[in-house]
Order: sequence, then structure tokens, then C-alpha cells
Amino acid sequence: MSRAVSTCPVVSAHGAHIPAIGFGTWPLKDEVCEIAVKTALDVGYRHIDTAAMYGNEAEVGRGLRASNVPRDQIFLTTKVWRDHIAEGDLQRSAEKSLKALGVPHVDLLLIHWPNEAISVAESIKALCDAKRRGLAKHIGVSNHTTALLAEALGAATEPLVCNQVEYHPHLKQDKIIAATRAAGLAVAAYCPLGRGDTGGVLAERAVADIAKAHGKTGAQVLLRWHLQQPGIVAIPKSATPARIAENFQVFDFELTVAEMAAISALSKPGSRIVQPAGAPKWD
Ligand SMILES: NC(=O)c1ccc[n+]([C@@H]2O[C@H](COP(=O)([O-])OP(=O)(O)OC[C@H]3O[C@@H](n4cnc5c(N)ncnc54)[C@H](OP(=O)(O)O)[C@@H]3O)[C@@H](O)[C@H]2O)c1
Repeated sequence: MSRAVSTCPVVSAHGAHIPAIGFGTWPLKDEVCEIAVKTALDVGYRHIDTAAMYGNEAEVGRGLRASNVPRDQIFLTTKVWRDHIAEGDLQRSAEKSLKALGVPHVDLLLIHWPNEAISVAESIKALCDAKRRGLAKHIGVSNHTTALLAEALGAATEPLVCNQVEYHPHLKQDKIIAATRAAGLAVAAYCPLGRGDTGGVLAERAVADIAKAHGKTGAQVLLRWHLQQPGIVAIPKSATPARIAENFQVFDFELTVAEMAAISALSKPGSRIVQPAGAPKWD
């Protein structure tokens, strides 16, 4: 894994090279989404995260084409919704995503959520088939617990490169991060800002104090905290051009060991933000 100081580092996992700061696109829609994706690429992001469920793949595709960044320099992720992860359905969903995005393949195709009604073996087999058919360069999972990840790894005939899970300073994720890392996969942290002002992580005194000490914003400190942990990729979302740029200006400072520990110490029970019906039993 390489960790450059002034440019966006890359997390490498089983042949995938994933820019450690990506741009999250939920719940962006329409022109706002297209402009946000173009803005993100213009200010330097090279990793965009979308999903069939977000209903914005066409806009994301337009944003990609509106930028001057060559497609082969962009790491593009999409996800298959949990209702469509059975054999055949998954491949059809991936094909539909590619059509909406206007690309021949994505760089990473994820199973968005596990589905109790469809076996892990079946969905992972279909995911591997989608990779072999060339619909995705790399494959992985999202919202997989240690048990589900172990099952997925056992069923996979192609390497899984990523588990995308909720992760921010309020939510301790030691177990799933350790298991994901041990298998050589990247951990993509969603809600890396704890949903910004609506969440509460940004309002933490420790975050504000550390930000002041570095002449940075609280959001930049949170993203730096993610970046300084091995194997972690963070995918902040913003609809605000100035914040899109701000969230990418995190490669020119470093948190001390004590600052890292102070931010990690903010974790507290009951801090999970994303807990839809049908979510797995978390670790
Ligand atoms: N796999 C999954 O199940 C899953 C689940 C949830 C999310 N995701 C992915 O992860 C991405 C990120 O997660 P998220 O959007 O839920 O949460 P997030 O990135 O932690 O927070 C987004 C919120 O923070 C605000 N924000 C952004 N930059 C800021 C800054 N510099 N200062 C203050 N506030 C700032 C945004 O407001 P403005 O937009 O108004 O600027 C928005 O309200 C999503 O977009 C999606 O791609 C995946």
C-alpha cells in the first residue's frame, strides 16, 4: 500500500488500486449530481461511488463525460441492490448499470446489501460471473459482517477486493475492519463524515480543536483520520462545490498519533446511522 503525502494515496487490494478518497453520490440526482461529479473530477478526485439503487447512474455517467478526465484514470464503483443478487438478476442489474452509466465496464461492482432470502454462495457466484464476463474489473461486497464476509470469501472464485461499510469516529468498527484487512481487502468507509452537520461527529470539541491546530476544517480532519489508517478508503459526499474541493484537500497535513487516538476515542454505542430493515446482525 502506498501513502503519498501531497497527492491522493491509493489502497491496493488483490490487484485493484483504489484512490483512498472517493466521491460519494447518494442522494445526488439530476443536474446537481452531474455537476457534482464533474466538479469532483475537476478538483482531482479519481474515484466515484454510485449504485443502481441511487437512481443516478445516468447523471454520474454524464458527469464523467463532462469532465476532461480520461475514463481509464477514473475508478468507478457501482452496486447491485439486494433484491437483484440472485443468479441472472445480478448480471442483468450490472448490465443495466453499465448502460445507464454509458461505460463498457465499471472498476468495482459491489453487492450493496446481503439478502437473507438469497444464499451468499449464489450471489457471489453470480458476482464472479459478472467479473468474468468483463462487466467489472473488480468485485466486492458492502454491508457484510465478519460472518457474511467469511462466507463470501469461501464462495468466491475471483478475488473480492473491498467491503464497503459505515465507518466514522462515532462508530467503532474494529472487528469488521480487522477481518476485511486480514483477507487483504480494502475497507471503503461510507458516511465518513458521519453525515456532516446532521450527524454530530463534526460538532465534537476534539475534532474542532485538532482542526484549529492544523488550520484545517473538521471535515478535513475526519478524512485525514480515515486516510491515516491502513487499508481504509473514504467516500465523502457533498452537493456543495466548495466542500467537494475542501474534502479533497487533505493530503498536505498529518495527524499525530495522539490526535488519531483522540478521534478514535469518540466512538460510542448506538452510533450507527444506516440501519435499514433487513440489515444483517452487525458484529
Ligand atoms: N454501501 C452503502 O450501503 C452506503 C450507505 C450510505 C452511503 N454510501 C455511500 O457513501 C457516501 C457517503 O456517505 P453519506 O453521504 O451518507 O455521508 P457523509 O459523506 O458522511 O456525509 C454527507 C453529508 O455531509 C455534508 N458535508 C460534506 N462535506 C462537508 C464539509 N466539508 N463540511 C460540512 N459538511 C459536509 C454533506 O452536505 P452537502 O451535500 O450539503 O454539502 C452531507 O450532508 C454516499 O454518498 C454513498 O455514495 C453507501
